[in-house]
Amino acid sequence: IAAAYSTRPGRANNYDARHAVIQVLNSVGSKREVQQYLSHFSSVSSKQFAVIKVGGAILTEHLEELCSSLAFLYHVGLYPIIVHGAGPQLNKLLEEAGVEPQFEEGQRVTDGKTLGVARKLFLAENLKLVRTLESMGVRARPITSSVFMADYKDKEKWKFVGKITDINKAPIESAIESGYLPILTSMAETTEGQVLNVNADVAAGELARVLEPLKVVYLSEKGGLFGEEGNKISAINLDEEFDHLMSQSWCKFGTRLKIKEIKELLDNLPRTSSVAIIHPAELQKELFTDSGAGTLIRRGNKLMT
Ligand code: ARG
Repeated sequence: IAAAYSTRPGRANNYDARHAVIQVLNSVGSKREVQQYLSHFSSVSSKQFAVIKVGGAILTEHLEELCSSLAFLYHVGLYPIIVHGAGPQLNKLLEEAGVEPQFEEGQRVTDGKTLGVARKLFLAENLKLVRTLESMGVRARPITSSVFMADYKDKEKWKFVGKITDINKAPIESAIESGYLPILTSMAETTEGQVLNVNADVAAGELARVLEPLKVVYLSEKGGLFGEEGNKISAINLDEEFDHLMSQSWCKFGTRLKIKEIKELLDNLPRTSSVAIIHPAELQKELFTDSGAGTLIRRGNKLMT
């Protein structure tokens, strides 16, 4: 492990960081597993390791765990691209500001006031994440505009809600090339510079489509998808299992929608890409062991190609 670690360029040669990393790795899996996955994840260009979507609740409830998991990846020389939302906090702030939430076809209408509150909140959450990472010795760069280009989804209906039309990778590439983790908010902008609200899951998915990373990770408090009798689903091989899953009585609402969305995403990615749904505290275990800890979703059943 030390050897694999030291072959990565430009990382902290700091003994403590290195020591901590080796300890974590040894406690999480066998040397063989850890080495195997580390070299797999390092085999692609730095920006193609992972896109990690961080839900709003993680930023408030599990910030420390999130940041130490990310610090770990950074210290082994991996550069995940982070996209965050701030959904739950937004609802609370809007309530406090006396803004009545309005919905059309199940989706929030973002009026000017809502957009203003959301923008301010997103920037504050972004800064909080960056500062916590920096305090752990991780170089992190806030990227709060210019990546996601969008058009109004339906101006009459949803007002300041965007539909992503294009992605500008330059700020992400430049951060990684300089040794920083890119920390993105999910807001987009029109060609005229109007900021628009987009769902963070959608933004992370669009980013993955362009970057084609090995992993698309959804960090959630639940730490996976749950199936029959509330058991955690360890892995889904879509090619063989999708139709069967869709016919199951427990496969409904959020879980059903999530599986459909992930299938749609993976259908547009190389077969080597997979999705992981995992709790932030168990990210290392998911990534660096054979059995993982959350739910792994891929098209076929081959782990690595
Ligand atoms: N570490 C491997 C990977 O990230 C395997 C993970 C298996 N995970 C699971 N939930 N079954 O590809």
